[in-house]
Formats: sequence, C-alpha cells, structure tokens
Amino acid sequence: FPQFFRNLNVQAKRPPLGFAFDIDGVLMGGPNPLPRARNALHILNGNNPFKAKIPYILLTNGGGYTEKERAEKLSSTLDVEISPSQIVQAHTILKDYVNEYTHKAVLCLGGTGDTMRKIAESYGFHKSYTTADVLAWNSSVWPFTHLPESDIVSARKVDFSRTPISAIFVFHDPRNWGADVQIMCDIIQSGGIIGNHYVDEKTRQNNPIQVIFCNPDLIWQSDFPRPRLGQGAFRESFQAVYKMLTGSYYPYVQFGKPTQATYDYARRTLRNLFDKAYGPGELPNMYMIGDNPESDIAGANAAHWYSVLVHTGVYDVTLGIPPTHLPTKEALDVEEGVRWAIEREA
Ligand code: G3P
Ligand code: MG
Repeated sequence: FPQFFRNLNVQAKRPPLGFAFDIDGVLMGGPNPLPRARNALHILNGNNPFKAKIPYILLTNGGGYTEKERAEKLSSTLDVEISPSQIVQAHTILKDYVNEYTHKAVLCLGGTGDTMRKIAESYGFHKSYTTADVLAWNSSVWPFTHLPESDIVSARKVDFSRTPISAIFVFHDPRNWGADVQIMCDIIQSGGIIGNHYVDEKTRQNNPIQVIFCNPDLIWQSDFPRPRLGQGAFRESFQAVYKMLTGSYYPYVQFGKPTQATYDYARRTLRNLFDKAYGPGELPNMYMIGDNPESDIAGANAAHWYSVLVHTGVYDVTLGIPPTHLPTKEALDVEEGVRWAIEREA
C-alpha cells in the first residue's frame, strides 16, 4: 500500500473532500507534465489546511499500460508517489469481466504488438489475442500491413480458423484502424471464426460476439495544439463500415468517462482509498478536475460530484461551455482548481 498512506497518522481527521483527476489535458500534455500539476498534487500530500493527506485517484479514458506501469510512469514524471490503487484507466473496469471470459478467447484491441495482451493477462484473461496475432497467423487478413519483426516474434502462434473469438474488447486507442475494423467485421460476420462463411443475422443475434469499447472520447488533448481523434472516432468508423456491410449498426457496451459504470467503479476505488487511510466511513464530497466537458464534466455532474473544468486541454474558452455540461467551477489550471475546492471545504 503506497507510502503516501502508510505514513498517515491514522488519528488524523478524515478530510472533508477527495479528488478525481483526469490525466491528459489536466496533469499531462502528451509526455510532459502540465505547469502547476506537481504543485496541485503536493498540496494533497499534506500541505493543506486539514494537515491531512487528501486521497485522490487518476481517472482517465487513456490506457495502454497496466495500472502498475502507469503509476510508475506518472510517479516519475510528476515527482509524487502514485500507487496502482489510485489509477483508473479506460480498461481497468474490465477486471470485473474476467470470470465471464476466463476460458473464452477474446480479441484485445489497442496499442501495438502484444501490449494489450500483457494487460489482459495481468487482469486474468488467459486466452487473449491481438491484431498482431491474427496478422502473424495470416497476413492476407489485411494485405496492406506488414508486421514488424518484433510483432511477429511476440505473436501467439494460433490457428484462428480453429479458435472461436467470443468477445472483442477495445482496451485502448487502435493504431491500425483499417486492420482492426476488418478483423472486427470478420469475427462478427463469421460468428467468431475469422475467414469462415458469414452467419445469418438470426445466428448473430442468438450467439452474439460481445463488443466493449472502453473510451468514448471523440477527441482528446495531447501535446499538439489542436485536439486529436480518440477511441470514440474509431468506434464510429467501425460502426459506419459495419452498417455499410450489413445494413445495421452492431450493439456494443460502452465504458469510460462519462458512463455511470466507470464513475461507479471510480467511486468504489476512492472509497477503498479513504477506508484504508482513515478507517471505514462515508465518502466525503468529491471533486472531479477535467478538461473535457463531454467526458469529465458530464460524468462528474451525473455522479453528483463537484466538477472543475480547466483551460489546459480540450475545452476551448473561445467556444464557450456546452450548456448541457456546465461545471461547478472553471479554473485556469489544476492547481487553481485544487485550491478553490480546498478553500471551499476548509
Ligand atoms: O486516449 C486518451 C484520451 O482519450 C483521453 O485521456 O486522460 O483526458 O481522459 P484523458
Ligand atoms: Mg483529458
């Protein structure tokens, strides 16, 4: 359990608030920390009127790492100790699905090579496969891609003509949209066996291939001056192609901010942090600090948390705030947001 809480004087009074921080556009601009992000987190480490460590989580629609790897990267970059138990990424919630798929084959999309498999296996999905595994099995599945040698070496040697896929989990943002859309359509249209004859609509409905997207973001803020297309844009690309092929959209499950499932998962994570630090008790007032009205502010408002919209990410001040996602407070950056929340609760 993180040093952050081990040093706690458990007699310390439970602070009256907790935080959830978005990462991209709030704490990080691409690979670099945003100005004052470090200050904001150091305030929570005890340099505040409560003289207590204020528990917080990082709640991101990003991913592509195990929670342990992400915590290590962020701790080093932000110069503050962050524990894996404080990290809720887009795909963290899939841990709740492991029992259902322990012995079933799942396709894990996002990132490159075997990255998603390592994450899926760390969650307990023991039959997880990637796009690279499919292309290493038969490169003519998508003749426009030539796998790098490293992906061929790390690929699972699997015969997908004899390996029915039961579910497709889009863990993280796909890199090769063409190949991923093609393979998704193959799996769904052929009832799980890539390359088989297409099954009819009734068979598809009776034996559906579950499709889960973990991040609905149409756009997100990296270190480029304008927002970039996110996993939500990939989802729409897949659905547009699938509809052209079959005449209908494919039913799917959506996780990630602003979905209730993800905020419920975040609330449980925060509750665990507070209870381990201060003993059992109710979760205090929660403050979500984000840069995207569609995901961070919408989800926090729906979860009855206070929401702080910062000007360091997706939100464009010149365009104004969408009236459907008005935050509790606007702030120039994450430190201003933290100071406002603490002063409000002191
Ligand atoms: O892929 C990451 C992006 O969609 C958003 O990340 O941290 O702003 O929720 P974040
Ligand atoms: Mg963001």
